[in-house]
Amino acid sequence: MAYAAFRSIGAYAPENILTNEDLAEMVDTSDEWITKRTGIKERHIAREDETTSDMGVAAAKLAIERSGVPSSEIDMVICATISPDYFCMPSTATIIANKLGLPGITAFDISAACTGFVYILSIAKAFIESGMKKNVLIIGAEKLSAITDYTDRGTCILFGDGAGAAMICATDDKSEAIIDVHTGADGTYADLLMTPNGGSGSPHDALENEAGACFMQMKGNETFKVAVRTLTKDVVEILADNNIQSDDVKHFIPHQANYRIIKAVGDALKMKESQVVMTVSKYGNTSGASIPMAMNDVYEAGGLKAGELMLLDAFGGGLTWGSALVPFSPLK
Ligand code: ACO
Repeated sequence: MAYAAFRSIGAYAPENILTNEDLAEMVDTSDEWITKRTGIKERHIAREDETTSDMGVAAAKLAIERSGVPSSEIDMVICATISPDYFCMPSTATIIANKLGLPGITAFDISAACTGFVYILSIAKAFIESGMKKNVLIIGAEKLSAITDYTDRGTCILFGDGAGAAMICATDDKSEAIIDVHTGADGTYADLLMTPNGGSGSPHDALENEAGACFMQMKGNETFKVAVRTLTKDVVEILADNNIQSDDVKHFIPHQANYRIIKAVGDALKMKESQVVMTVSKYGNTSGASIPMAMNDVYEAGGLKAGELMLLDAFGGGLTWGSALVPFSPLK
């Protein structure tokens, strides 16, 4: 049986930065409120002509180069995004594959909001373990600024743009293998986070006069409570299922939505501060890109070494959630 190894990480953050002070000039808010309630100080915002696929390509190039796998051996590209270049079609993954010069390979998007990266990790693992694919490029990429209402102070302070990518590759060596990935969803909470936006459930005609229908809408406070509960439960379960203690985890990399959510989950799991990766202050919430962007920060700071165990944990619109136990396994 083949195993799936997490070989490499890469990320991209656009150059433009939107600070809390900038936002305080746009809506009725303040640096103090945003910092205290979310931990966010700034977020990166893509140029108008910069697309989700452009950012995905920049992150993917780094991940491919760092993996040591020739591009010609990549056999699948999966992109997790809720802000694709085009809604409906073509998928952002096909555009990324084309821009990377990978014609003819399997490419598709998935929509699982902030849990997207954990979902695509589970898909890559399953395809590799079944023997159907060998080298899968997974990408979380978001231009959330394109679907953010900058007149709504409840959401516009939270979100940023960026991308992260990883190469997941077949190996015979079980010690390199992704240990486990859990994913789940509960549509009864669908209305907590949504973009009404002209899908078959809310056709454009009906929404023509509804302000903000094409932007993200969120019941922040309710989402917060479900997030803490779900993220904690998810991690407790994946650790127990695999007989792993939280002390064995070198890097706990949760979805970067709000430092209060991350702290509450870290405390509930008795994680030390040194184990918990926190990048929310500089990127804000980049949805499907947030976990790989955070991981890349650790990697580029020299803090992610071969064999170290990462615990990923995510939660997002749907509602969706997921967690993963992943040793970092670069090619020897
Ligand atoms: N500046 C100043 N005041 C504000 C702002 C703001 N930006 N936003 C809200 N307020 C006010 C509210 O109007 C309210 O005022 P009131 O008491 O007079 O009515 C007060 O602050 C408290 O509002 P809450 O919504 O209760 O504030 P809360 O502490 O819950 O923080 C936040 C809001 C930051 C959005 C928080 O609820 C949160 O982080 N929620 C979770 C977000 C999340 O995890 N999303 C999941 C993933 S996202 C995805 O999948 C794409």
